[in-house]
Amino acid sequence: AQDKRESLFIVTNWAAKFFREVLWDTGEGRTVGLNYFKERGYREDIIRKFELGYSPESWTALYDQAKAAGYKEEFLETTGLIIRKDDGGIYDRFRGRVMFPIHNLTGRVLGFGGRTLKTDKKAAKYVNSPESEIYHKSDVLYGLFFAKKAIVEADNCYLVEGYADVLSMHQAGVENVVSSSGTSLTSGQIRLISRYTKNVTILYDGDEAGIKASLRGTDMLLEEGLNVKVLLFPDGNDPDSYVQRFGSTAFKDYVASHQQDFIFYKTHVLLRNAGNDPIKRAEVIHDVVQSIALIPDAIKASVFIRECSVLLDIEERLLVAELNKLRIGQA
Ligand code: CTP
Ligand code: MN
Ligand code: MN
Ligand code: MN
Ligand code: MN
Repeated sequence: AQDKRESLFIVTNWAAKFFREVLWDTGEGRTVGLNYFKERGYREDIIRKFELGYSPESWTALYDQAKAAGYKEEFLETTGLIIRKDDGGIYDRFRGRVMFPIHNLTGRVLGFGGRTLKTDKKAAKYVNSPESEIYHKSDVLYGLFFAKKAIVEADNCYLVEGYADVLSMHQAGVENVVSSSGTSLTSGQIRLISRYTKNVTILYDGDEAGIKASLRGTDMLLEEGLNVKVLLFPDGNDPDSYVQRFGSTAFKDYVASHQQDFIFYKTHVLLRNAGNDPIKRAEVIHDVVQSIALIPDAIKASVFIRECSVLLDIEERLLVAELNKLRIGQA
C-alpha cells in the first residue's frame, strides 16, 4: 500500500511539473494561462511560489505525455488525471484550465483544482481531483504548506474560501492563511490548524453563502476549543477581490479594523435579520447561547455569557440557566 501511495505521489508531482511547463514554456500556456493570471493581478513570484500551471485545451495532452514518459494508466486514473469512459476511451480531466496544485505538509502535490477561463455559466468554475489514497479533501487545507511558519509566528490563522484568496493575501504580504476550498470545514482540518495556533479568523466571502458558512465554521471551531474571530467583506467581495481592487494596505487596514469576536459577529448578523420582532430576538439569544455552549472550557464560556448579557441586555442569570440546560443536553 505504501508503494502504491508512493506511485500516486510520483504521478501527481509529475503532472504538476507538466502543467507548470505548459504554462511557462508553451504558446498556449503563456497567451492563455499566464495572461489570465496576470490579468487577475498575480505577480510572477506568486505564480511560481504556488507552482501554478495550465492544462492545454486538448482531450489527451497529459495522457499522451504521461504514456510516453512510461507512467501507468492505473495510477493516472486513480489520481483522477485521466478519466476512462464506459466504452474504454480515455481523456484528460483537466482541459483548458489554470491549475492550482494542492500540497501536503511537506510540499508534495496531492491533487489539483483547475479553474475554467470561460465566463459563461455552463462550465463548472472549478474542477477538482477526486478522493484517492493520497488525497482526502476533508484532511487537507489549501495553502497550509506555505503558511505554517507564518501561522506560528502570528499565532493566528486566517481561514478563507478559495484558492485565489490565498494567493492574493500572500501577495499582500499576509502569509498566515489557508483555504477550506469551498467545502464546509471539517474537524480534521481544524485539528490541522490547531497544531500551529488556537486562534482563527474567518475571512469568508461577503455573500449569503459566505455568511452561512461563517456561522457553521464558527461553531465547528468553538467545539474544537479554538478562539474565533470573523470578518465579512463588503458588497460581495472576497479577500482576493478586495486586495486586487483596493490594494494591500487597504486590505490590511480593513482586516485589522473589522474583525470581530464571534459573539459580536453572530449577534450582529442574526439581530440584523430579526429586526424588532421579540420572538425572533429571543431566538437569536438562544442561538448565540447555543454557540457558547459548544465551548469546552467552562471559564471561557462564562466570560462570553457575560459579554452576551451586556450585548443583548439580558440578565446574566437567565443566560446561565439556558447555558446549563444546553450543557446537560450535550452530556
Ligand atoms: N469551488 C469548487 N467548485 C466550484 C466552485 C467553488 O471547488 N464549482 C471551491 C474552490 O476551491 C473555490 C472555493 O470553492 O476557490 C470558493 O468558491 P468561490 O468563492 O465561488 O470561488 P473563488 O475562490 O472566489 O474563485 P474566483 O475568484 O476564481 O472566481
Ligand atoms: Mn487513507
Ligand atoms: Mn464564495
Ligand atoms: Mn470567492
Ligand atoms: Mn474570488
